Amino acid sequence: MKKRVAILISGRGSNMRALIEAASAPDYPAQIVLVLSNVADAGGLAFAKERGIATEVAEHKNYASREAFDRAMDEKLAAAKAELVALAGFMRLLSTDFVEQWRGRMINIHPSLLPAYKGLHTHRRAIEAGEAFAGCTVHFVTPELDDGPAILQAKVPVLPGDTEETLAARVLAEEHRIYPEALRLVAEGKATL
Ligand code: GRF
Repeated sequence: MKKRVAILISGRGSNMRALIEAASAPDYPAQIVLVLSNVADAGGLAFAKERGIATEVAEHKNYASREAFDRAMDEKLAAAKAELVALAGFMRLLSTDFVEQWRGRMINIHPSLLPAYKGLHTHRRAIEAGEAFAGCTVHFVTPELDDGPAILQAKVPVLPGDTEETLAARVLAEEHRIYPEALRLVAEGKATL
């Protein structure tokens, strides 16, 4: 039985797309049953719809608190019978309750070699620090931001003359490669928290 996966996005959704493409293979151990966005005009929603995947929008600004928003998301995940959650450019902090509820069943992709460069503007900070390498990490989500155990990482060189944009593009290509691989490991029970 394929694991039922919901993807949470806030924007362009290129990682979501990589997961949807991977999951379209007959032998992939997961199926994408829902794409949920906290932003009504997130670019990724159109692609998901085109592929016939159920989409939902829950705009955080319509909820009185972070907890109320998270409960609304949880209801949508339950309605879709999601077993795993993949955060893909989802730009909201999640409440501890929500994270605990999905403990070991929720993963995220972060554009740095964690534990280095948690948070935002990872590429700019890596260039400014004169790093020789940058990269990306797929990790289990724990209550602390960008802190959970890594499942897969990929490393790329920082090249002379790199800008935030050129480095981000080099890293993003690796994100699209490792995220589907990491989701496979989790869906097959080969990576556990
Ligand atoms: C990616 O770089 C991801 O690592 C970070 O946010 C970006 C989202 O891009 N968390 P996309 O929406 O998947 O294209």
